Amino acid sequence: MEINTNQDISSPDIPVIDLSNHDEKLVARAVVKASEEWGIFQVVNHGIPMELIRRLQEVGSQFFELPESEKEAVAKPEDSMDIEGYMTKYEDAARNAWVDHLFHRIWPPSKVNYRFWPKNPPEYREVNEEYASHMKKLAEKIMEWLSEGLGLQREALKEGLGGETVEYLMKINYYPPCPDMDLVLGVPGHSDINGITLLVANDPLGLQVFKDDHWIDTKYTTSGGIIVIIGDQFLRMSNGKYKSVQHRATRDKEKTRISWPVFVESNLDHVYGPLPELISGDDGAPKFKSYVYKDYKFRKLNWLTLD
Ligand code: SIN
Ligand code: FE2
Repeated sequence: MEINTNQDISSPDIPVIDLSNHDEKLVARAVVKASEEWGIFQVVNHGIPMELIRRLQEVGSQFFELPESEKEAVAKPEDSMDIEGYMTKYEDAARNAWVDHLFHRIWPPSKVNYRFWPKNPPEYREVNEEYASHMKKLAEKIMEWLSEGLGLQREALKEGLGGETVEYLMKINYYPPCPDMDLVLGVPGHSDINGITLLVANDPLGLQVFKDDHWIDTKYTTSGGIIVIIGDQFLRMSNGKYKSVQHRATRDKEKTRISWPVFVESNLDHVYGPLPELISGDDGAPKFKSYVYKDYKFRKLNWLTLD
């Protein structure tokens, strides 16, 4: 189905890339350029059925509208060292955040723990499983283009991220209306820790990116477009060629904002760093250290230094 992107094309904003363009080289070049210059872009006509995206949004919204006691059925256990589950951080003044969230892995099947997938609404599982297979296809295509943009084999970034052990983590951010607009952001400024993030969101708009020294509102289509965000892992694996963009989320005074990022990332024990082919030549010094992914994650989440 075609998406009308006129509003995006006419505004000086994050790049919008039409994946239905038959010239794949042109599409690949646009993806590479946007990743170098912005670290964020939106893809439209990506082949994921609009109806599936609509259903994903519907089942997610329905879950968050359940009474608190029902949402607690998939709560993150207090003693859990992992990230999966529902958490309310709403009005968390310490983190300056105005958001509830749910995390659960959607790929690979061996890493899926249905204990953290809502049972209500009943279609939640079927919709998320179908969405997961589309996410994998789209992410792999983008990773191929980005690998070729580095002058490497098309499998290079996926392999560097862990090959078939790469994990896909669904997050739902639920930002209720916030009466005091000066008080808090939905999510404070950050760059994503993982390789690449594929995100859909509802109305109202509310994603800002840091570009040329200031925060700008991004304009994007909420009817079927997918926002692609380059994370720290791809910044580092590309030895600095691709940018991991600083971004943050705002909330609305009256409307509930919801976003569905899917994080494509290494498994926790995987070691990653600048891809060897990029640092082997005479002037190919690594700009970053290699890390075990869980160490990187721990350091970043605790504001420790990262080389
Ligand atoms: C995030 O990057 O953590 C949230 C982005 C969004 O809600 O649009
Ligand atoms: Fe983010």
